[in-house]
Amino acid sequence: MTAPQWARAHTNIALIKYWGKKDAQLMLPANDSLSLTLADFYTDTLVRFTDSIATDQFALDQQPITGQPLAKVTRVLDQVRQLAGITAPAVVTSRNHVPTAAGLASSASGMAALAAAAAQAAGLTLDHPALSRLARLGSGSATRSIDGGFVRWFAGHNDATSYAAPVPAAPPLLADIRVVAVVFSDQPKAIGSTAGMARTAATSSYFPAWTQRAAADLHRLLPALNAGDFVQVGQIAEGNALAMHAATWAADPPFTYFLPATLALVQGIQVWRQSQGVPVYATVDAGPNVKLLTRAPHVAAVQRWLAAHFPTAQVVVTQAGPGISYYPAG
Ligand code: DP6
Repeated sequence: MTAPQWARAHTNIALIKYWGKKDAQLMLPANDSLSLTLADFYTDTLVRFTDSIATDQFALDQQPITGQPLAKVTRVLDQVRQLAGITAPAVVTSRNHVPTAAGLASSASGMAALAAAAAQAAGLTLDHPALSRLARLGSGSATRSIDGGFVRWFAGHNDATSYAAPVPAAPPLLADIRVVAVVFSDQPKAIGSTAGMARTAATSSYFPAWTQRAAADLHRLLPALNAGDFVQVGQIAEGNALAMHAATWAADPPFTYFLPATLALVQGIQVWRQSQGVPVYATVDAGPNVKLLTRAPHVAAVQRWLAAHFPTAQVVVTQAGPGISYYPAG
C-alpha cells in the first residue's frame, strides 16, 4: 500500500441545477446537471485505514464530526473498503478552505476530496469517472468536483452510469468567466438541500416541468459553452436557477430559500443589465445567497454596483478552478 497523500478537491457552482433524486439509495439524480469548478474554494483531506480503532473517525477543521455527516463519510469509505477488499476503519482528517463569507457549499469539495483520498489510501487506482461515482455516494454535487472547468453529471440509470465528466468550452470563456459570490447570510438554512429536493420531487406539481426544463436548458447550454457565447450561458443559467426555485414554491408545504434581499438582487441585476448592457447573470442554490456570473472585464463594475446597492453584503470573486490533486502527507 502506498503512503497516504492529501487529496484536494474544489467546490463547484451549478449552471444547470441538480434538484431531485430518482433513487435516493443509489444517489441517482432526476436530471443531468452542469457546473463550473471554482478556483479559490477547496477541501484538503487525508485518509488513513487502521485496525487500531473500532469505527471510522472524521475531523473537520480539528472538530470531531458525528451523526449524519459522519454517516455520509462512512458510506463512501464502505464502498472503498468493498472495492479494495479491506475491513479496517479509517481516520479522516479534513481542512476546508472555503471562506465562510463565500456562502458556498463545502459538501461538494469535501466529499470529492474524501473519495480521492480514501481510494488512494486503500491502494486503488480509479479513473475520474470512477472517483466521481464514489463521491456521488457522499453528496450529489460532489460528483462534479473531481474534474476542473465545466463538468456535466450524467444522471444515468444505475451506479455505473451515473458519473461526471468535463465538458468542452471555448478557452477564452473558461479563462475569463468570473463568479461573484454575494453573501447575505452565513446561517445554516432551515431546509437542507437533501430534504428540500426530496420534498420538491415528492410533492411539487412543477417537478415534472422542472426536469423537462433542465434537460432542454442543458441541450442549449452545451453548444453555447463550445461557442464561448457568455450571454447565452448566463441567460440559460439564470433561467434554470429560477425554474428550480419556482418548483420549491409549488411544493407541499411550499417553501423558498429566497430572502427579500435575494429577490432584490436578482431583480436589480436584471434591470441594471437591461439598462446598461452589462453581461451579468444571477444563480442561486439552496440558500439565500446569490452568485453572479460575469466576465473579467466587468468585475470592477459589478463590485461598484454591489457596493452602491447592497453595502452590507459580503462579496467574494473567483474563477474557474482545477480538478483533484494530491500532495504528500507531513
Ligand atoms: C442547489 O449535493 O447538497 O446546490 O446530494 O442530497 O447531498 P445531496 O445534495 P447536494 O445538493 C446540491 C443542490 C444545489 C444544486 C447543485 O449543486 O446542482
